[in-house]
Amino acid sequence: MNRLITFEGVDGCGKSTQLKLAAAWLEARGEKVVCTFEPGDTALGKEIRRLLLAGEFVPVAESELLLFLADRAQHVREVIQPALESGAWVLCDRYSDSTLAYQLAARKLGDGATNLKEMLNFAECGVSPALTLWFDLPVAIAAERMKKRAEAGEKPTRLDDEAISFHERVAAAFAAQFDADEGRIVRIDASRDIKGVKEQVELLLQRRFS
Ligand code: TYD
Repeated sequence: MNRLITFEGVDGCGKSTQLKLAAAWLEARGEKVVCTFEPGDTALGKEIRRLLLAGEFVPVAESELLLFLADRAQHVREVIQPALESGAWVLCDRYSDSTLAYQLAARKLGDGATNLKEMLNFAECGVSPALTLWFDLPVAIAAERMKKRAEAGEKPTRLDDEAISFHERVAAAFAAQFDADEGRIVRIDASRDIKGVKEQVELLLQRRFS
């Protein structure tokens, strides 16, 4: 059984909090769980993450895409694949749907003639999610949350600082991906409070996997 579950959505949608709660829920049922994230959860990936997000460099869109994909391949081979082979559930904060939304849609790289989706498949090294939770939240609310985080001292990444129109394109792309793949992608209403969102996630996991 494929036990890879990915968590997706715009910056500020609350998916990272929900990932931890979902892991605790699975662990309470005696399941082995590995929590991970992109970009940056390998030694090489940590460096790639710094290059991509710290703001010191501004990669052209093509380089940005390739760096996210390099991080992914390293992550799959080093972390995700071994964890799945050990029988663990792998809960991954962002995966290929983020690349589709941020690079192919928001950066408009998907408009070209090259079939970039094939490159995305290549970087996944044959490992696709069984289930993707899309935390759907209007960009205006997400932006408010990001502002609060910044006021609380969290340093925004280079992509957090993109214009609202960029984040709107990301959000629209997630919605389109959901429409195109409703079997794998499930919409979670992320505008509810933490408990309200947690309940939706747990209900879904129960329905799908028990
Ligand atoms: P991070 O601080 O991990 O934010 P979040 O908690 O919102 O996931 O930053 C990751 C950023 O990288 C986020 O803005 C989305 C972006 N990203 C891409 O643009 N493409 C990708 O393929 C991935 C995995 C992430």
